Amino acid sequence: MNAGLRAAVRMAIYEGYEVCVIGSGYNGMISGDIYPVVRGSMANIIQRGGTIIKTGRSQEFMKPEGRSKAYQNLQKYQVDALVCIGGDGSFRGAHALWQEHAVPIVGIPGTIDNDVHGTDFTIGFDTAVNTALEAIDRIRDTAASHDRLFIVEVMGRNAGFIALDVGLAGGAEAVFIPEGGTTVDDAVEQIKRGIARGKMSSILVTGEGKKPGRAYDLADSIRKKSGFDAKVCVLGHVQRGGSPSASDRILASRLGAAAVTSLKSGTCDVMCGIINSKVVQTPLEETFSIRRPVPTELLELLSILAQ
Ligand code: F6P
Repeated sequence: MNAGLRAAVRMAIYEGYEVCVIGSGYNGMISGDIYPVVRGSMANIIQRGGTIIKTGRSQEFMKPEGRSKAYQNLQKYQVDALVCIGGDGSFRGAHALWQEHAVPIVGIPGTIDNDVHGTDFTIGFDTAVNTALEAIDRIRDTAASHDRLFIVEVMGRNAGFIALDVGLAGGAEAVFIPEGGTTVDDAVEQIKRGIARGKMSSILVTGEGKKPGRAYDLADSIRKKSGFDAKVCVLGHVQRGGSPSASDRILASRLGAAAVTSLKSGTCDVMCGIINSKVVQTPLEETFSIRRPVPTELLELLSILAQ
């Protein structure tokens, strides 16, 4: 997100605008945490994880009264247009602000989950996948040395994009995603096929789904069905931090700059995303009302490749 912030701020200054940032997301818009920045304020942040201006999930902004308060602050600080980095919740809020108060706003997709319609990749996804993958490679050392079965849980509340990519890239035997598709029986069969070929260790990957800890439930079910004893590793928020990958920095730089260009040309209430390596605009409303399907065909591919 810092690379996206840096790009939006610097592109806007390059275009001759004065720029403010809003701290702590919509909470800061409501409380008036709005302050001016210059080019140098964005120095030395491109390699940092998280966001230097802080973020937050705002319950108050979900209500019209909260958005009215936010709008009053935008007027007070003479904010004419906004760039918003976030996922579907942020874009819902942005679209409402446009509809109710006509604040020109352009979104750029920032979530590790990759579950936003209108872009092939969201900012943070590549870094999160690589972080989880590094962990799996390390876990594999123990799995192989001790002939163990591991279940590794990755993030992704509603979507299995992280789990699928991590599973395929990590050579997992099976992947469980919130969308379904893989059963405990499938996984047990896959492990048994491996054992029949002399394979003594296995790795399963699961997306966390509704709440973290799904891997423990899966381990219980697998134990009951097959007697296999699975070790569990829940990766959690480690996936949301750390220095961003080159791909994420480039994506964020392109999209942050594109958002400013879009506002300058008078196009708002859209998200700038990347499709087939080109920057494209999608109406904000579509980004949160159309569900982006996970490529479930990867489930079959990884199970063939793991055999
Ligand atoms: O939406 C991004 C995400 O990282 C999900 O993958 C995860 O389920 C959720 O956020 C965790 O949210 P929080 O940090 O608020 O618990």
